[in-house]
Amino acid sequence: MAQQGSYTGTAKWLHWGMALIWVGAWVIGILATHWRDELNPHHELTYVHKALASTLLLLIVARIAWRLSHSAPPLPDSMSPTMKRGALLGHVLLYALALIGLPLSGWYWSSVADKPVMVAALFMLPSLVEPDQSLYDLAKSIHTYLSWLCGALVGGHVLIALKHHFIEKDEVLKGMLPGRTH
Ligand code: HEM
Ligand code: HEM
Repeated sequence: MAQQGSYTGTAKWLHWGMALIWVGAWVIGILATHWRDELNPHHELTYVHKALASTLLLLIVARIAWRLSHSAPPLPDSMSPTMKRGALLGHVLLYALALIGLPLSGWYWSSVADKPVMVAALFMLPSLVEPDQSLYDLAKSIHTYLSWLCGALVGGHVLIALKHHFIEKDEVLKGMLPGRTH
């Protein structure tokens, strides 16, 4: 059950579970590409990156279904209508770019490169498109630039959540924290 002013328990599990996977995948992606010789000589980190990140493609389906059937708690009255619209836009961008667009672009890149993606090391994702080496550089650029853009977006999201808690001292972060009671 959702408490007043709080996300439901399921929404919190999905938010924090996916946030952990997302941040882990982002850090591993950076280590895999920028410390390739030292840390990723046989693509071990690339394998882990793809196995972890691809689970988001499944989890996002459950998350969107849950979100469409359970509304978010109202934002505090201390926020202006413009700020509230900004918060909504930020969340829509997080869903569209960080949780849907980025995993899709990674899947697209691996598909044009004809490289397998093992979801959670359990089963292989089918190809999104036919392999095509002429699209390799484009697919790589899309995933790389999008990953940095989303890193900035998520960084901003975290800072804003902390600002609500420590500076505005409102209930926004508490509504997403576990075990809230009134
Ligand atoms: C189906 C999902 C995904 C697949 C198949 C995939 C695939 C890849 C591949 C093949 C690389 C290159 C690794 C290497 O060259 O060793 C990479 C890099 C990267 N990926 Fe993903 N990825 C996926 C999802 C994600 C997600 C969800 C994030 C963010 C959390 C992400 C962030 C990154 C980053 C930051 C890099 C390094 C970019 C750079 O070169 O600076 N990827 N990804
Ligand atoms: C790691 C630190 C994080 C903190 C402290 C945090 C905090 C929060 C808080 C307090 C909310 C609800 C409050 C509000 O309405 O603004 C929220 C919502 C949300 N967060 Fe995060 N978050 C974090 C990471 C992430 C990550 C990594 C992602 C995705 C890549 C993410 C995606 C979202 C989305 C999409 C929502 C909107 C939920 C909805 O209403 O449907 N968050 N987050």
